[in-house]
Amino acid sequence: MELNRRTVIAGAAAAGIAATTLGGTAQASGGRAPVKKPFGTLADGTKISSWSLANGGTRLKVLDYGGIVQSLEIPDRHGRYRNVSLGFDTIEDYVAGSPYFGALIGRYGNRIGKGRFTLDGKAYQVSVNDGENTLHGGAQGFDKRVWDVEPFAEGSDVGLYLYYTSVDGEMGYPGTLRVKVTYTLTRQGDWRIDYEATTDKATVVNLTSHVYWNLAGEDSGSIHDHELRIAASRYTPVDSGLIPTGELAKAAGTPFDFRRAKAVGEDIRVAHQQLLYGQGFDHNWVLDKGVTAKPVAVATLRDPSSGRSLTISTTEPGLQFYSGNFLDGTLVGSGGTVYRQGDGLCLETQHFPDSPNKPSFPSTVLRPGQTYRTTTIHSFGR
Ligand code: BGC
Repeated sequence: MELNRRTVIAGAAAAGIAATTLGGTAQASGGRAPVKKPFGTLADGTKISSWSLANGGTRLKVLDYGGIVQSLEIPDRHGRYRNVSLGFDTIEDYVAGSPYFGALIGRYGNRIGKGRFTLDGKAYQVSVNDGENTLHGGAQGFDKRVWDVEPFAEGSDVGLYLYYTSVDGEMGYPGTLRVKVTYTLTRQGDWRIDYEATTDKATVVNLTSHVYWNLAGEDSGSIHDHELRIAASRYTPVDSGLIPTGELAKAAGTPFDFRRAKAVGEDIRVAHQQLLYGQGFDHNWVLDKGVTAKPVAVATLRDPSSGRSLTISTTEPGLQFYSGNFLDGTLVGSGGTVYRQGDGLCLETQHFPDSPNKPSFPSTVLRPGQTYRTTTIHSFGR
């Protein structure tokens, strides 16, 4: 079983025992060991903490609530730091209605049609929270759970281990799932995420991270000038509820072709049925490299105005590119300005949406005795 923090808080969450947090003793060469501070209190009295860490020119602030990246600061070509990840200043704002800003997503990233699937002949109905479908794990996904956080420093790396135990039946999913997510800041300033999970019954798992990027700064308006490249010749078209049809459609000759870098806004107003369904880009790209044992670079995002860039490498076969279509001017972000449509974009590494109902897609089934393991690395440039 491994995983650890006594094998994911020894089922503490399952038993309703409050998890404790060890003091940080990390001291890494070059990096700033994680520092814990109070961030606020949930309605039930649970104290929420933020953890600040830095390494290689990247500064990260993480909440134990949802494993949320509350702030990620990187320099521009002149060395000026900005927070490039959309978020809020208070725990109340996150609880009141965050569109998954910066959060860890589970058990199942993106949608499962009607929240239903059959596994080993047994039918399951999971929490429905997006029209008739389930999105990002259901009404109380991993983004709304308090994670047990443990700081570390290893060699030149600094980071956090985040643990959560999802009990059998939580949100309708079978099996007790023990999850360990590792956030590492490397000496080069890369932010690396390693996801691990085990189960005691066959289940489905698809974990991801839901940072909204704006490389010009979280409060600087539209990302339509950002240039994006995705190494994918195909994408998964969807129906009007954003559930994949099962087809792997060719990107060539469509607005979905990002094999050469182009501005996000270049084709976003093309009258293409798929863009109407998503109110912009909100699709899974089928990465040409497929599932890999080691992370492979699959996408680069660049803001020409600041020179900041982000390259994503992953072991996963899919990438959800969501162009922030449902930001509607009703949320005030951490910089004090209102977020509107297209003010941030997400690049979520994943298995494909609705895989439990699409036998031709790479499998998301996890069985007892197996360990779910995926890695995604965010590398920054300027
Ligand atoms: C989905 C969008 C959804 C958003 C939630 C994305 O991952 O693809 O459809 O609206 O998350 O903010």
